[in-house]
Amino acid sequence: MQTVPIALLGCGTVGSGVVRMLTEDAEFLAQRTGLRFDVRYVLALQANPKARVALTGAKWVTSMDPILADKDVGIVVELIGGTTFALECSKAALSAGKALVTANKAMLARHGGELFPLAHSTDSCIGFEAAVAGGVPVILGLRDGLVANRIRAIYAILNGTANYILTEMTGANKPYEQALAEAQAAGYAEADPTYDVDGIDAAHKIAILAGLAFGEDIAFDRIRIEGIRGLQLDEIVNARQLGYVIKMLAVAERMSDRRLSLRVHPCLVAKDNPLASVDGPFNAISMFGHAVGHVLMYGRGAGQSPTASAVVSDLVDVAIGHARRRFQSLKIWPGKTRPAQIVSTDNLVSRFYLRLQVADQPGVMAQVTRILGSHQISLSSVLQKEVPLTGPVNVVITTHRAREGDLRAAVDEIDRLPVTKAATAWLRVIDLPAEGIDAGDEWNRKE
Ligand code: NDP
Ligand code: HSE
Repeated sequence: MQTVPIALLGCGTVGSGVVRMLTEDAEFLAQRTGLRFDVRYVLALQANPKARVALTGAKWVTSMDPILADKDVGIVVELIGGTTFALECSKAALSAGKALVTANKAMLARHGGELFPLAHSTDSCIGFEAAVAGGVPVILGLRDGLVANRIRAIYAILNGTANYILTEMTGANKPYEQALAEAQAAGYAEADPTYDVDGIDAAHKIAILAGLAFGEDIAFDRIRIEGIRGLQLDEIVNARQLGYVIKMLAVAERMSDRRLSLRVHPCLVAKDNPLASVDGPFNAISMFGHAVGHVLMYGRGAGQSPTASAVVSDLVDVAIGHARRRFQSLKIWPGKTRPAQIVSTDNLVSRFYLRLQVADQPGVMAQVTRILGSHQISLSSVLQKEVPLTGPVNVVITTHRAREGDLRAAVDEIDRLPVTKAATAWLRVIDLPAEGIDAGDEWNRKE
């Protein structure tokens, strides 16, 4: 039996979940792995913070110094969050040659370019299974299971809080604010929940996945990010009537010119697509590889114990020596890969949903269809809901495939018409890629 001393930075929702798992499941883990984890230090804001967990034997510290000085501690688990103090501590741990285990996707997406090369230079490693999709082992899946695949695309639900909100608004007609408050109370949300609802957290995660999947360095600022904050109930109701569900998807896709499209946005997903049935705090990741075809991973993407499950998996991986060896041999980490070329969403082609609010008078539809036609946008369906009184009417349109830049230009023009009474709401309608396991597709050719 090997005892593994570790230091824990931050003991909030996830940190206390890790402590609970390491104490309550100590015997079970020891039997399976031959390891016993000894939480020797907990770094927290105060020397005696609100004890969320019963932890005996650990020293509560307020600085990294004693942790760095303790040569027996080879693994530092960062569960503070954010990109300031957590980054400082992570760099200090790696510089001292200690392995870093972290759930901090914001830090990795924005500072991976510094942290990964640092870990290499000190013969250390970084475990980050918990940073993407909570308890779903998607990092392991991409990094190991799919290593032989050229990945064409990833379509994923990566934020449990936003998905919980959409599920509750759709299924239970709950107001947005109530659903968000419930997600926060359940421990799903970030310390600043705007990261969840504005799509930033999902963008952090897709940046990490895309880097691994495509073997390219991702500049986080090039990701197009649209959240769910401005989404109206009308869109949810109309989508349902049309046979769709609204989901906030994170997408990373190799285009035919080899550039990448990276984006997070709410969109209409057909009800028979597996992603449409992913509800509440669950995440799902659809990945398309040239050899394997379509792989779908599903599970709890947020919350204390699913995330602790991923952290403990990394701890075992580091302690038995796999993580360090893999980290030093594979060439899929930031700093080992070339910079990605990223396309603007204006050049993407997809179907669209539009809701216009226009005056109910003759000739209005003619003006709208003329504008759409002049931008090469062809209509697939039009629905005008009958209203009892005079006043603006909602006209719901779906289009055939069109260029996003053309759609934006058309919407701008429609919104300037005197008959338009409010800004047009529009969303993308998503078609997942064909499986494409045949060799010969343009994205499938060798580098
Ligand atoms: P919490 O806010 O619950 O916990 C953060 C902890 O860090 C708290 O104990 C806090 O102390 C402590 N802390 C904050 N600032 C400092 C500081 N300057 N010095 C020392 N300690 C500090 O966050 P979570 O546990 O939810 O999240 C932790 C990380 O895990 C984040 O990176 C998050 O994105 C990630 N994550 C979270 C998931 C979830 O479902 N919650 C899922 C996957 C990843 P205090 O208690 O005193 O405020
Ligand atoms: N706030 C995140 C979410 C936690 O809701 O998905 C998991 O990373």
